[in-house]
Amino acid sequence: MTAPEPLGSVVVVIPTYNERLNLPLIVRRVRAATPDADVLVVDDNSPDGTGELADSLAAEDERVRVLHRTAKDGLGAAYIAGFRWALDRGYDVIVEMDADGSHRPEELSLLLEALRDADLAIGSRWVRGGKVHNWPMSREVLSRGGNTYARLMLGIDLHDATAGYRAFRRTALEKIGLDEVDSRGYCFQIDMALRAIRTGLRVVEVPINFVERELGASKMSGNIVAEAMWRVTRWGIRGRLGQKDHRS
Ligand code: GDD
Ligand code: MN
Repeated sequence: MTAPEPLGSVVVVIPTYNERLNLPLIVRRVRAATPDADVLVVDDNSPDGTGELADSLAAEDERVRVLHRTAKDGLGAAYIAGFRWALDRGYDVIVEMDADGSHRPEELSLLLEALRDADLAIGSRWVRGGKVHNWPMSREVLSRGGNTYARLMLGIDLHDATAGYRAFRRTALEKIGLDEVDSRGYCFQIDMALRAIRTGLRVVEVPINFVERELGASKMSGNIVAEAMWRVTRWGIRGRLGQKDHRS
């Protein structure tokens, strides 16, 4: 039997805004679960000092790097900056992971395994075998409702289009083309999934256990939901009018 082909170099991109309590825990867990993967923290000048803490973690471990941005500019913008950083440095696989422990580093190997036969592997809460732990009913309703709306509006066959635990091949990000992505908030996830599908990339969903944070607070807001609603509606209408390009 021959060993499977290695996927190449991996970087785990972790966006942070006020995650001082969570950051040391998540970095330690990623480093323990996938010792060959590098970590990039993308901090938006968190008032609680997360950026300085990230620098001190980076000083102790050469596999940990930090990208400092000047102000809170949304999850999507932070990821695009992190992806550019990773592409410039030649990484073969780029992973998205929340800082708050919701995306278990111990399950990253499942995503990487799935990526062997895919261009984008999405850690999904809403496929068989996927689970959410400790979410209030209101969040579950929002996530399920948002996903149903996205599926119907966009005609995509994904159960968790808003999921934030993902592994991309670098070639996938190159084909999608980051310059055109301007979703700022969490609808960035739907945007990227839609672009991946419309670009003809192989997208797979992998069941994960999503665990609600114990420390710090969610940054989800009414504005983020509103941005997702209007963009998905617009992309859906444009899609129906036969315009393949869903740029807003
Ligand atoms: N740099 C930066 N800038 N990081 C941000 C920003 C920002 O403007 N907004 C949020 N983050 C970081 C948080 O610090 C955290 O590490 C991660 O993004 C996710 O933020 P949460 O606030 O914990 O998200 P959530 O738990 O409410 O939402 C989850 O579900 C969403 C919808 O399904 C996440 O998994 C999202 O990724 C997902 O889209
Ligand atoms: Mn969270």
